[in-house]
Amino acid sequence: MLTLIEQVLTTEEVSRFRAHLDAADWQDGLLTAGSLAAGVKRNQQLDEQSDLAIELGNHILRRLGSHPLFISAALPERIYPPKFNRYAGGGHYGAHVDGAVMPLPGSRDTLRSDLSATLFLCEPEEYEGGELTIETAFGAQQVKLAAGDMVLYPSSSLHRVEPVTAGARVCSFFWIQSMVRDEGKRTLLFDLDQSIQGLTPQQQSGDQDILRLTGVYHNLLRRWAEV
Ligand code: NI
Repeated sequence: MLTLIEQVLTTEEVSRFRAHLDAADWQDGLLTAGSLAAGVKRNQQLDEQSDLAIELGNHILRRLGSHPLFISAALPERIYPPKFNRYAGGGHYGAHVDGAVMPLPGSRDTLRSDLSATLFLCEPEEYEGGELTIETAFGAQQVKLAAGDMVLYPSSSLHRVEPVTAGARVCSFFWIQSMVRDEGKRTLLFDLDQSIQGLTPQQQSGDQDILRLTGVYHNLLRRWAEV
């Protein structure tokens, strides 16, 4: 399932991010490519240890922590500190699957990537190409979102970034370990939660059926969450 999460960042926040990122010192993305990625990765990345990457990444994490749709869809247990990349001049990232288990920077913990996230930091009109193409059970889907919007997709999916033939594409990307590892179970919980949220305004608070459905949600989460 692909989930679009709109307005993770406001227009003002995106402008502030871009003022910093457009003036930043970008590195060759090959510096952090594993042996498999090295053959297909042509982009630039911000040094993830830099003060700028840490400050902007923390800002994104604070926004996500209070975003109900993100919490409902991802049920996050751990989030990789957001990274930043830039594609220009034909830059692209060929078909690949993200690594399954990665060390968490600054800790001894590891993160299992259940979900991958891309947060767009430029408007679609600012560049040509650069679509994020994700292979799904229903065929390939191309994603190119407004600045401040984000897509969540299963880290197990084959995906690629199409060549950027004009302008520059600047995004943040990161991975999420979910409390619920299985995508099918996570999707059921998301659908149930969204339906309960949709019903609640139409019902009296304390409605018995809503209470029972809410109980079903939490009892399923109790069965399936690994925390
Ligand atoms: Ni990837």
